[in-house]
Parts: sequence; structure tokens; C-alpha cells
Amino acid sequence: MRTYCGELRLKDSGKEVTIKGWVQRVRDLGSLVFADIRDRSGFVQVVGGREIRELKPEWVVEITGLVREREAKNPDIPTGEVEIEVRELRVLNTSKTPPFQVLDEIDVSEDVRLKYRYIDLRRPRMQRNMILRHRMAMATRKYLDSLGFLEIETPILTKSTPEGARDFLVPSRNYPGRFYALPQSPQLFKQLLMVSGLERYYQIARCFRDEDLRADRQPEFTQIDIELSFTEENEVIEVTEGLLKEIFREAGIEVETPFPRISYKEAMEKYGTDRPDLRISYEIKDLTSLGVGGGNRIVDSVLEKGGKLVGLRIPAGLSRKEIDVLDETVKSSGGKGIFWLKPEDSSIKGNLRGEEAWQKSLCEALGLEKGDTGIFIAGDVPEEYMGLVRIEAAKIKGAISEGFKFLWVVDFPLFDRDAEGNLTSNHHPFTAPRDEDIGILEDRPLEVIARAYDVVLNGVELGGGSIRINNADLQKRILRLLGVEEKRFSFLIEALEHGAPPHGGIALGFDRIVMMASGSISIRDVIAFPKTTSALCLLTGAPSEVDPAQLDELKLKIIS
Ligand code: AMO
Repeated sequence: MRTYCGELRLKDSGKEVTIKGWVQRVRDLGSLVFADIRDRSGFVQVVGGREIRELKPEWVVEITGLVREREAKNPDIPTGEVEIEVRELRVLNTSKTPPFQVLDEIDVSEDVRLKYRYIDLRRPRMQRNMILRHRMAMATRKYLDSLGFLEIETPILTKSTPEGARDFLVPSRNYPGRFYALPQSPQLFKQLLMVSGLERYYQIARCFRDEDLRADRQPEFTQIDIELSFTEENEVIEVTEGLLKEIFREAGIEVETPFPRISYKEAMEKYGTDRPDLRISYEIKDLTSLGVGGGNRIVDSVLEKGGKLVGLRIPAGLSRKEIDVLDETVKSSGGKGIFWLKPEDSSIKGNLRGEEAWQKSLCEALGLEKGDTGIFIAGDVPEEYMGLVRIEAAKIKGAISEGFKFLWVVDFPLFDRDAEGNLTSNHHPFTAPRDEDIGILEDRPLEVIARAYDVVLNGVELGGGSIRINNADLQKRILRLLGVEEKRFSFLIEALEHGAPPHGGIALGFDRIVMMASGSISIRDVIAFPKTTSALCLLTGAPSEVDPAQLDELKLKIIS
């Protein structure tokens, strides 16, 4: 019978065991040779003679031997009190010299790690991440099953589902010139399942989006996708909070519920973003009413044009160099820069020039004390730049507290306007407006509030959802406002005309959840085979060119 390396303890002394695994390292002390043998559970030291000396890192071995107490114990590792005296060694396979050592602390580029992902995944940290991911998926299934949700698969070869990104297309061989789209989410199918009377659905669903990538985005990613019938906002929120509590527990993290809820408007005003990091206590203040007439021409001209002046108090102040860093943060994101003031004993220092009484009133409004720095930005939407300053300043000051700060952002506007002035959905076109706003849809669309909610953790959007439109006429009105052809979604509209119950749901970014729970800095560290930020799979070389015969069959021609 096989024993797992990492499980051996002092109480096993005297037992004969067989272990199977990989050679971590070999130490040759002349007459005695030591090796560490690793499997998924950890590693253990073996001791033997000449036969061990031949072993090389990452060879695969089976060793039978006697467990005994070590002379030189290592309190830093779980198996540090024992070793195995080798009686029988079988080399199951050899290995080329690995491109990097299988250790957590390695200095190797991510490109090399991704090219040799199968070796990278042998590292203890990556194994822990994969195990945690599995356990969080299991906890999801168990929790949702206990609430009567059914796990139902939806198609991968389908029609475009708009979530704001480009589609990945798959050409059809049987119907040349026609394409399937890979789903950006199972949104429409989960709504159809509600029309089908299945009442409670979930899926740990793969989604595909051809969009610009960032550290927390992948072209294919996984959602915990949920939909339920006869529901409203509070129930979806409660189900989600319960789920997050259960799954974070798998990582030993106790999540406190209920989460605070704040409106989109408040989030933008206080934090300059719709996904605020509440580990930072700094809050943005609107100083517009105090701004005019202080003798600062830039501020005056911004405010005369209907702009705003906002301020942020940085307790215990910033050096000139640190202020420059914040200025650069704003400029590199397209802003004009920042003003600052510092109250001293008898004067106020800073580059926000103006009358002293005016400067004083601004400092007082921000609650600035001696030693603090006040940052000021004037502009059309200065909160968004100040939101960046808020985060950057907190990093500089080490003012980001420990822990997991969840919150809900609610009362989003249903629509936005794009650069061309067209209405776009803030979430997706199937999100219901508040009942009381239906009357102003056509006249004042930007004032319409959506029945949508986002869940945010430490400044990362973990998930979002909404109560859906279940009335076909209302759905048609919304599509018309968005300039979307009704016939694109005729199948949905027809379904809504056949007894669609009230329904709503949410989707949580599973990769992001595992990333946060495991303390990883990139979602690539919790996905077994991720793509790079330029959407390449360095392991397989995808995307790759295809055989011309395949293109012929699909009646496709590459025009370069
Ligand atoms: P949404 O588009 O907000 O909603 O997606 C839900 C969550 O999925 C995660 N996510 C991603 N994770 C990694 N890489 C990506 N490229 C990526 N894009 C999104 C985020 C996000 O919050 N159908 C709706 C949900 C609904 O209304 O029920 C939807 O897909 O964590």
C-alpha cells in the first residue's frame, strides 16, 4: 500500500512504508546520502547509500523503507522529525534537468513558468492553489444544492451573448459563412431555464471574452453562475452572502455577513470608483460649494463651466516626492494633475494658490490638522482621478488595513453613454429598471436606476447580477433604446411571451474569488493552464495557424 510522503510523523517510526513521488533534491555526505521525496501531500527525507546518489531532481521513484526518528530534526517542516531508511528503490522514470527548481521561492520569469506549466504546477504553492480551487468548487456545489439549486450545463457553441466584450467565433463547416459564438456568459440560457420552470439554476461555467486583458482578466474564465425565479434583490444578495461565507471558509477565512450596501452614487462620490477598497479609510469630499472666488483662476474657470472641486485628507502627510508620485498617477491616467495644501503653525504651504482665508476654509472642510496633506482636484469628474490618488496614497502611507472588506454596490444607472453619445447598458440589456423609473425610460434614460447589484471585495469586483426583465414589451423597449435589433434576441423575446416568471440572479468570478482567498496577486496563479496577458498559451502555442485543408473545408480564406 502506498503512504503519502507529507503524512509521515514520529508515531510512524518502526513502520515499513512505500512512498511514490518525485526527487526534490539529493545531498551526498559521502557514506550517507539523503534525498527529499515529494508527492502532492508534501515531502519527506530518505536516507540510503550509493543507490540514492544516482538520483537526479524530478526523477520519479518508488521507495520502500523503514520510518525512523531523525537525529537532526527540522522543526520547520511537518515531516521534520522522521526519515525513511531506504530498503528498496525503483526508478519509475527519469527526468531532463528541469528549467527551474520545484520550490516556492524561485526567480524565474512567468513566461518560463507558463511554458513548463506542468512543472510549475508541482510547486507547493501552486498545488495548494489547485487544491483550494477544487475545495471551493465543492463547497459551492454543496451549498447551492442544499438550497435546491440544480447544476445545469448550457451550450458552448452558441449565439452571441452580449456582456460588453468581443465574441470568440467558431466557423461552421456545415453552413459556410455562418459562425457559432462562444458564450461571454450563460446569461440568456439561464433566463430561458427560468422560463422552463426549473426555478433554481447554477453552473460553474466557463465564459469567453475577447477583451483587453489585465492581471485579473483572462480570455476564458470561470463564473459561479446563479439564477432563481420568483425572487427579488434581497434574496439573491442573501444567497450570495451565504455562498461567499461557505467558500471562503475553505481557505480558513471567516466572512462577516451581511455586507454593507452603498449606492453607486455614494461609491463614486466617496471613493471615486464603483468598486471601492474599504480597507482604505480615506474618503473624498466635495468642496465645490467652497471653491469659487478664492482667487485661484484654474479652480474658478473649472467651476464656472459646471465642474467640481474635490479634496482628500491624507493623515500624517506626504513628502514633496510622494506628492509628485500622486501627480504623476493622475497625469498618466489622462488627468491634469493635483493641487495640495499643508497647514503649518502659522501658514499654509502648497500649490493651490489663492486667498489665505479660502485656503484655510478648504483645509478646515477637509479636517486637515498640522502634519496632514490635503490633495485637491478640480475638473469635470475629478472623483475618478481622486479615486486613483486615494489608492496610491494609501499604498505610500501603508494605510491599507488587513482583512477582507466585502460590500454591495447597488442602484446603478441602467444606462451609460458611449463616446459617440449612444446609450449603452451598464450591465447588460436584460437588467430590469426600477418599476418607478419605467415611465421615464425614453425621456430621461440616464436617470433610470437598474435593479442591479455588484459585490466587491478589497477593490476587486467579484460579481454582479440583477433582477431581469420578464416582460417582452419592456425588453423590446430597452433594446430599441439601445439601438439593438430586436430580431437578434427574438428567441428571448418569444420565450418572455410564453409565461416567463419574475427572475434574477448573479455571476461571481470564480478565478478572482480563488485568487483573493489564496492571497495570490494574479488570477493566472489559480488557473491550471492560463493564457498570458497577450492571450497566448505558451505551453501549447495556441493560437496557431491551421492546415490549409481545414480552411478550405470551412470555406475560409486568410486575407493578410
Ligand atoms: P459580469 O460580466 O459582471 O456579469 O461577470 C461576472 C463576474 O465575472 C468575472 N469576470 C472575469 N473574470 C476573469 N476574467 C474576465 N475576463 C472576466 N470578466 C468577468 C468578474 C465579474 O464580476 N451574466 C452576467 C451576470 C448576471 O447578470 O447574472 C455577467 O456575466 O468577477
